[in-house]
Amino acid sequence: MRPSWPLSFVKWEEAYSQGNDLIDDLHHSILANLNALYFYANSDSCNHLVGQCFDVLVKNMELHVLTEESLLHDIHASTANEYRLNSQILLAKFIAISEQAKGDMYPAELLSFIRTWWTEHMKYHQYLEPFLIAEKQLFCRI
Ligand SMILES: [Fe+2]
Repeated sequence: MRPSWPLSFVKWEEAYSQGNDLIDDLHHSILANLNALYFYANSDSCNHLVGQCFDVLVKNMELHVLTEESLLHDIHASTANEYRLNSQILLAKFIAISEQAKGDMYPAELLSFIRTWWTEHMKYHQYLEPFLIAEKQLFCRI
């Protein structure tokens, strides 16, 4: 029997925009896959795709933190080393929870972890935003 979740989809809000198209697209991608995971987990016809969604989410998270880390490093931002340490801890936790959740068709812990991370990450972006705006590069947004 499927558990009842208090969770729901996460909708994009304009307040999430960072003024950097590359970062915004990476954030969109994470939310898109988070919402896909939620959909698959609650779907009778697509529930078998939950496991595949884990792998995509892990790659999304890795690409996102490595990109932000690289942008901060390139401009010698004072926060680059702190970001690297925090992102290594984050990725290790995320991968561990994803591995635990594999085979679980109702990955409530993983969804909850990502949602909590997203809220905290948006708060952290208030601190990062000036650095990321300074690092605008040519990027073609879809
Ligand atoms: Fe971010």
